[in-house]
Amino acid sequence: MIINLKKALKLISCGEVAALPTETVYGLAASLNAEEGIKKIFTLKSRPQGNPLIVHVSSMAQALSLVQELPPHFEELGAKFWPGALTLVAPAKESVSLLARAGLPTVAIRMPNHPLTLEIIRETGPIVAPSANLSGRPSSTSPKHVLEDFGDDFPVLDGGKCSIGIESTILIWNSCRWEIGRLGSIAPESIASCLPFEPALSKSNKTKCPGSLYRHYSPKAKLIYGQKPYRGDSPVVLGFEGRRYPQAEKIFILGDLKKPETVMNNLYKVLRKLDTEGIKEAWVDADFSPTGILSTLAERLEKASRS
Ligand code: TXA
Ligand code: MG
Repeated sequence: MIINLKKALKLISCGEVAALPTETVYGLAASLNAEEGIKKIFTLKSRPQGNPLIVHVSSMAQALSLVQELPPHFEELGAKFWPGALTLVAPAKESVSLLARAGLPTVAIRMPNHPLTLEIIRETGPIVAPSANLSGRPSSTSPKHVLEDFGDDFPVLDGGKCSIGIESTILIWNSCRWEIGRLGSIAPESIASCLPFEPALSKSNKTKCPGSLYRHYSPKAKLIYGQKPYRGDSPVVLGFEGRRYPQAEKIFILGDLKKPETVMNNLYKVLRKLDTEGIKEAWVDADFSPTGILSTLAERLEKASRS
């Protein structure tokens, strides 16, 4: 059910759950103060209790009110990338809902870049918002995707199609440096301009996002992750503009690899399309060099291909 801003504001203020737009993907939102709403998010998504939620804020002051000890460069990173697709994980104040942070001593914080959702947060205070998809499924980049997963009666604030279409990059403070807990729509190289070093991908499970340990982004179709040129591996191909897949019977195009932002923006829509068209198996073209933002694409496709 598509709702307006007033209704969304009312639901969130009453401790209820509603799907809200962000520039990355749609989020399933509840007030950070609403324990029942937060519980409901876990149930609705069938999300494992050990997978914490990102807290979304509308100002740096709200962010600082959640953090126990401020890691170096926290404010510089926020000033450069917020509102935007960067999530920062820092030691949490004790008062931050343990349910939301899945019992962890840290809290993940982001300021989304969407006028409607920022307006709601300004009124209600911080909200939690995991991606608005059933656990394990591709994220939602339009209201239609949210309704596909949660039913036509589920309240969704329509903020249009997400302008980025891929989740935020998550940086975790690891007592002496920032590490990437989840690749996302901001490339590590761009973050380096704010730090004395380029943040590396976290290697230890302890400093990875708990969510990265679960199955993710998967359509119902079985995906074959193809790191070599296509040789008729499957009749259905998920591939790129300008490439040839001679034996393919059906090709789903993600976009032009020379325009990675467009490819990222199409990714979840195309993964979901495989299911609406009843595709059982597809070969995924992963024969590209995973540099810059394409490292996120390679990671999402690889995860989506896991059985
Ligand atoms: O772009 C985004 O980040 C979207 C939009 C809605 O803001 N949100 C999103 O949320 O992708 P979700 O719940 O689908 O993914 C959040 C990830 C999970 O992998 C979770 O484990 C991790 O963030 N996370 C949350 N709190 C954390 C914490 N305290 N420490 C480490 N990882 C954390
Ligand atoms: Mg998610």
